[in-house]
Amino acid sequence: MKLAICGFGRAARALAKNILDTDTHTLQAVLCRASSTKQGMDIGDILYGKGKSVGIAITSPEKILEAREDYDIDVVIDFSHHDMAFPLIALCGNLGANLVICTTNHSIEEISKFQEFSEKLNLGVVYAPNLTIGINLLMDFVKRLAKISPDFSFEIVERHPKDKAPVTTTARMISQAIDREDVPIHSVRLNGYVGVHEVTASNGYEKITIEHESFSRMAFANGALLAAGYIQNRKGFYLMQDVVKDIISDK
Ligand SMILES: NC(=O)c1ccc[n+]([C@@H]2O[C@H](COP(=O)([O-])OP(=O)(O)OC[C@H]3O[C@@H](n4cnc5c(N)ncnc54)[C@H](OP(=O)(O)O)[C@@H]3O)[C@@H](O)[C@H]2O)c1
Repeated sequence: MKLAICGFGRAARALAKNILDTDTHTLQAVLCRASSTKQGMDIGDILYGKGKSVGIAITSPEKILEAREDYDIDVVIDFSHHDMAFPLIALCGNLGANLVICTTNHSIEEISKFQEFSEKLNLGVVYAPNLTIGINLLMDFVKRLAKISPDFSFEIVERHPKDKAPVTTTARMISQAIDREDVPIHSVRLNGYVGVHEVTASNGYEKITIEHESFSRMAFANGALLAAGYIQNRKGFYLMQDVVKDIISDK
């Protein structure tokens, strides 16, 4: 696949390393907002240290548009910021590329706009605020458990580094999957964690705990590539759950 990445923070750097370390895909471009201090820097200098350039300079959506005939991109993967999703949908419409949105904290209204715009512009878009297969399987499991066991109560514990939002989008989505009034969400914020989501359910006679932990941002990079492979030759709007459901139904 011919890929572009938007953003060059922790998750995007893990993805870039993954792409550069294998021969399966090519990294056609890395873009950041026009005001980013990373503009013009070679990503090799950031990933591997000064003097280790790989010939990919960070650019902006605006510059890519100006020189669109120089770019051949199948899928753009967004690991930047909540606000970049709509500008990237417009960019992909112009480039004829598809999009995987990995950023978080979008409202239901924004998500339905993603769907509307992807259909209007005839794009393929995956909205993937939780990228790992494990988390998507966990959500599927707790949804079934809540449905078949109405006497069970559920609690969610999530552990993340200190700079993470007070409640993650993933924890909220797990709560929606359980679909009960007031499922408590307990947030632990300590550096060292990449991401843990744990759900415990009990009816007073038996208890089940299911926990997912990401050890490395490579887990997110792998999920992003899975979603990109899924959307490469599709049109329309999909959630990461759709991607995982299709993978499971193949097995
Ligand atoms: N779906 C998942 O499973 C998953 C997993 C990991 C992360 N994420 C999401 O991916 C995003 C990045 O995470 P991260 O951990 O890599 O964060 P990070 O290390 O803080 O990197 C953030 C990136 O976004 C750019 N940025 C910051 N503010 C911006 C703005 N207002 N407009 C455009 N770009 C902006 C930053 O670059 P400049 O400041 O140079 O512009 C940087 O490249 C977050 O939304 C996070 O929630 C999702």
